[in-house]
Amino acid sequence: MTRNYLIAGNWKMNLTATESAALAKEVVQLVSQNSSVDICVSPTFTALDAVSRMVNGSQVSLGAQNMHQEVSGAYTGEISASMLESLEVDYVILGHSERREYFGETDSLVNQKTVAALQAGLKPIVCVGETLEQREADQTIAVIQSQVEGGLASLGADCADSLVIAYEPVWAIGTGKTATPEMAEAVHAEIRAMLTGLMGESAAQKIRILYGGSMKPENADELLAQANIDGGLIGGAALKADSFISLIDSAAKQSN
Ligand code: PGA
Repeated sequence: MTRNYLIAGNWKMNLTATESAALAKEVVQLVSQNSSVDICVSPTFTALDAVSRMVNGSQVSLGAQNMHQEVSGAYTGEISASMLESLEVDYVILGHSERREYFGETDSLVNQKTVAALQAGLKPIVCVGETLEQREADQTIAVIQSQVEGGLASLGADCADSLVIAYEPVWAIGTGKTATPEMAEAVHAEIRAMLTGLMGESAAQKIRILYGGSMKPENADELLAQANIDGGLIGGAALKADSFISLIDSAAKQSN
C-alpha cells in the first residue's frame, strides 16, 4: 500500500516575515512538482500572510502553530480559526509540548481547540508526548493515553481524513536526542490501537501519526520506515531548506 506521508515544519518563534518568505520560497523551488509527500510549513503568525503568498499554487501547504478555541470575541492577543482560514492555512499544530509546558495548555483545552479547528475546516496536528521523568517512571503509555483520550474527546470517525497526531517525546525535542526507531514505533503502535478503540479500525488506519523530536536527515530513513510512522513534525531541521528537503526525500523514498 502506498503511504501518504506528511512532512510538517514547525518554525516556532523564529524568522521574521521577510526571512520566512525567503525560506518558503527556497522550499517551494526545491520541492519536486509531483511530490508524493504532503508538505507543510508553519511560520509564526506574523509571517503567515507572506508565506501564504509564497506557497500559493505549490505543493507546499501552510500551517499555523496555535489558535484560540473561540470563534471570535474579546480575547486580546488571540487568533481564531477563521483568521487562519482567510490566509489559506490548512493545518494547525495544537497542544505542542511547549504550549503545554510554558502556557499551561491542558488536554481539555487542546480538545476544545481541536474541535474548533475541525469545525472550521482546518486539519489539526494534535501533539502528545511524555517527559523524561514520566518515561523513566514507566508512565509513557499512561500519559499518552490520557493525552490522546482527553485531546480527542467527543471526536468521531468522520474526522479521520483531517486529523493528524504527532508523537513528540518531550525529552527529544530540540535536544539532539531522538527516540530510537523501535522506541518511537512502539508508542506509535499504541497510539494506533488507542485510535482504533476510539474511532474504529478504518478511521484509525487513515489518521496520520507523525514523529517529532530531533528528526533530521541522518535518522529520518529509519524512523519513516516504521510501520506506524506516517511522517514527521520537524523543528530545527525545518529551518534550513536543504535539510527539510532531505526529509521530504526520505519520505518520498519510503512511499515508492
Ligand atoms: P525539533 O522540534 O525537531 O527541533 O526537535 C520538533 C518539534 O518541537 O515539533
